[in-house]
Amino acid sequence: MEDLKERHQRAISGVIPLETPLEFERGEGSYLIDRSGRRYLDLMTGIAVNVLGYGHPAILEALQNQAQKYLHLYNGLGYQDIVVEFAEAIQGITEPGYPVYFGNSGTEAVEAALKLARATTGRSGIIAFRGAFHGRTFGSLSLTASNAKYRSAYEPLVPMVYHVDYPAPTRLGLSPDEALAHTQQQLMTLLADEIDPSQVAVIVVEPVQGEGGYIIPPAGFLPWLSELCRKHGILLAVDEVQSGMGRTGRWFAYQHADIHPDMIILGKALGGGLPISAMAARADLMARWTPGTHGTTFGGNPAAAATGLAALRVMHEEHLVARAGALGTMALETLRPLKDLPGIADVRGLGLMVAIEFEAERGESLVTAVMEEGLRRNMILHPAGLRHEVIRLMPPLNIDQAVFETALGELVDIVRGVMGGKR
Ligand SMILES: Cc1ncc(COP(=O)(O)O)c(C=O)c1O
Repeated sequence: MEDLKERHQRAISGVIPLETPLEFERGEGSYLIDRSGRRYLDLMTGIAVNVLGYGHPAILEALQNQAQKYLHLYNGLGYQDIVVEFAEAIQGITEPGYPVYFGNSGTEAVEAALKLARATTGRSGIIAFRGAFHGRTFGSLSLTASNAKYRSAYEPLVPMVYHVDYPAPTRLGLSPDEALAHTQQQLMTLLADEIDPSQVAVIVVEPVQGEGGYIIPPAGFLPWLSELCRKHGILLAVDEVQSGMGRTGRWFAYQHADIHPDMIILGKALGGGLPISAMAARADLMARWTPGTHGTTFGGNPAAAATGLAALRVMHEEHLVARAGALGTMALETLRPLKDLPGIADVRGLGLMVAIEFEAERGESLVTAVMEEGLRRNMILHPAGLRHEVIRLMPPLNIDQAVFETALGELVDIVRGVMGGKR
């Protein structure tokens, strides 16, 4: 049999570079198993997708049941109980009464939010934040500002998109209060000098920046933003694609603040491992979205709705959202001593979005070294941050506590070793 690596290189576009040389065979719980039978603890879960790990019986059963009926139906064809039930379950954890538009990927849900915002406000302006990642199709890419490499080959992007700094204390070198004041000042200046608030349709924000480095904004940020939007009739869309579905210790990260966004964008873990995304929005906005002006072939796929619903039920029954909060607190306690090492810029987290940030200068090479050593110790880690200066942990929410504790201990050891300290 010809080498898999060579076949891959010939058969698959190289635009997605490979992070590891692993050849995967299957997954089992929190572990991935390669073709030689070696087991790796997966702390990146397909980039925050496999919320219950691999092979969860409830998800497999839901998939089998739905597969026996049908795998796909265009959502515009007729009524489907499984899709309605899933939408109702989403309403139950986001905002009651918000109708749901289904897509397939995070970027599609972002596109839907942008189109709904422009269509219902009649305004064109869109505001997003530096360090944000909202996807890679033209609309969402116009908001993404976490690395110029995502954008530069594809300009010009969608017009009338404006960026201001996210209140990211470490990135800005400011205290949380100063970072908040800085962002407020930038936004007010933008609205005074470049675009009148009456021309702004929507502000799109990650309640915790994901790709940007697991940045948790100061507590006052979202309430202030929400009030600003309300005052000017600007819609507020929260992108919960990465931070949602219980990962931060609440169903959605925006729920740590007392706000009710106009639109909520979901993806990744929503389908329990199958691709599906959603955009839930205020009922009066959805009512004004002219039928037939937007749509999708696969969006709201019933198999993905079935697995997503099964995952949600398990999360409810096993109280995995509260558990994510508790495990996150434990993780921070274990990792926080690393903060004292020279070369570590920050250790932070909200629930099971946990990050170790290295100082910018050597950040990327240190992160690479940590990931390589992690792999040698059977642990799959993933980078984040504008220059890949961050290691982010996003384990399955049902990871065994003892296994996670041991992995965190190993990680501390690895980081100390890589920083040249004592192993
Ligand atoms: C916050 C956020 N929004 C949107 C996206 C885009 O999702 P997708 O890759 O499914 O298009 C991502 C992907 O990482 C994300 O983290």
